[in-house]
Amino acid sequence: MSVPEPSQNEQPSEDVRARGDEKPHDGDMSASHQTGGRHRKATEPLDKSGQRVREMFRQIAPRYDTMNHLLSLNIDKWWRRKAVDRLTIQGDAPILDMCCGTGDLAIEIANRAGGDVQVIGSDFCHAMLEIARDKEDSRVRDAAGGAGRPTIPFFEADSMQLPFTNDRFQCVTVAFGLRNIVDTDQGLREMVRVCRPGGQVMVLEFSQPTLPILKQLYGFYFRSVLPRVGQMLARNDKSAYEYLPASVGQFPCGEALADRLRQAGLEEVEYQPLTLGVATIYIGKKPAAPQSSTATQRAADPVEQPMRMVTQ
Ligand SMILES: C[S@@+](CC[C@H](N)C(=O)[O-])C[C@H]1O[C@@H](n2cnc3c(N)ncnc32)[C@H](O)[C@@H]1O
Repeated sequence: MSVPEPSQNEQPSEDVRARGDEKPHDGDMSASHQTGGRHRKATEPLDKSGQRVREMFRQIAPRYDTMNHLLSLNIDKWWRRKAVDRLTIQGDAPILDMCCGTGDLAIEIANRAGGDVQVIGSDFCHAMLEIARDKEDSRVRDAAGGAGRPTIPFFEADSMQLPFTNDRFQCVTVAFGLRNIVDTDQGLREMVRVCRPGGQVMVLEFSQPTLPILKQLYGFYFRSVLPRVGQMLARNDKSAYEYLPASVGQFPCGEALADRLRQAGLEEVEYQPLTLGVATIYIGKKPAAPQSSTATQRAADPVEQPMRMVTQ
């Protein structure tokens, strides 16, 4: 299997710190996490620079799926299925799953969408995309009568600046990726920009349970159990499994995140907590009429940017 090296025209990774506008949730204020031998207070902004996040996922890519399913007791698969249930897939306009990682959501969508709809996956971590591509190859190979189905192309792309033209996709989705993008609002604006008017933008993300006892149990599992199990099973990946609770603790959820979707230009925004609020689906519609909000202002360039597809 040969995989092309990063291209010359690859965008330089942004190297900025999280703006610190994601406030820790109640109950998380006293939490601290180990970082490189010292405790990092949950109030400290996380370093979500593209370079750091990409490197972290590069390191955990080979074990990402196993760890994901194990640490979530396989519930993550059901969450993705529930998220796809919320999509209204019509006609043959394409669908984008950004921050697609190892491709599970994109593949779930393609399985439901039927042969006429092109599903595209994008992510900025080549190692995650290689796994997505291999999974997709097996899916197409194994599918009975699958011949002729369009396969999912996986592209390397930064979700801060998607290389797609405006108003292109009938649905734009992201699962457990928005939290990792250095600027949440820019990520959402990009989703809205490439979504066609009347189309859907869907976010599946971890959230904080609201029931007090469950909140405490969840906090304990996330802060104390998960990083240790992560370290035991994935050797050098301890920092990644410390990053996870810290990034969830600092990320808005419920109404706060729903508001950010509205500010990005979406209407009819709804959210649905899953598994007592451990994860939440957020969904909104891009207004049918053209609007002059910032969400559509990067309209100037109608030309698709150069893209690198992950191939064999
Ligand atoms: C937790 S994984 C989620 C993967 C997948 N969506 C899933 O449901 O398992 C987060 C993914 O977001 C990607 N990511 C984070 N920031 C990104 C950015 N700015 N642009 C593109 N991908 C990004 C990472 O490379 C990683 O693959």
